[in-house]
Amino acid sequence: MKLGNLILIGLFLVFIGIQFVPTELPSVESNNPEDIIQSGIVNEEVAGILKTSCYSCHSNETNYPWYSYMAPSSWLVAKDVREGRKELNFSTWQENDMIKKLGYLDDISSVIDDESMPMGIYTLMHPSAKLTEEQRELIVAWAEDAMDLVVEEDEEDWEEEG
Ligand code: HEC
Repeated sequence: MKLGNLILIGLFLVFIGIQFVPTELPSVESNNPEDIIQSGIVNEEVAGILKTSCYSCHSNETNYPWYSYMAPSSWLVAKDVREGRKELNFSTWQENDMIKKLGYLDDISSVIDDESMPMGIYTLMHPSAKLTEEQRELIVAWAEDAMDLVVEEDEEDWEEEG
């Protein structure tokens, strides 16, 4: 047999073999009453952008693409979703106190401004998640307005408590 064929068969067997390595994709939850989109600080346009470009890694509503069910890409997807949710989870937004929310909004503004999010590997696989300059400006401006809203919301809570 030719060496090239042997190598191909070898690679194929490795590919089959790694499918048996267990990967746990973080679970999906579609009912999230504490979600940022329901919190009143997000308009429809921003909500659409966050859903398309961020929610797969930063919410409990991950939309798993076909390649997330196949090793080795499944390992990468599982890792990004796990780490992304840990870093910032839009589904549990209202569980954060004011200071935390302000910190997140500030971080969002900077990762959008320096184009480090959404991750390059993600936009490569999902071109529609790539943000235009206009969309980036919109998100940065929203994050700033949202900081004011978060502070107001906190003051209202204080007043209600008396
Ligand atoms: C493919 C998964 C993925 C997508 C899509 C994604 N992120 Fe992330 N994000 C991550 C991971 C993983 C981390 C933690 C590691 C890191 O910082 O690179 C992270 C970190 C962050 C952080 C914290 C980083 C810091 O330095 O403070 C912010 C804020 C953030 N992402 C915002 C966003 C926003 C906003 C979007 C959408 C425009 C987005 N991300 C899209 C995976 C993703």
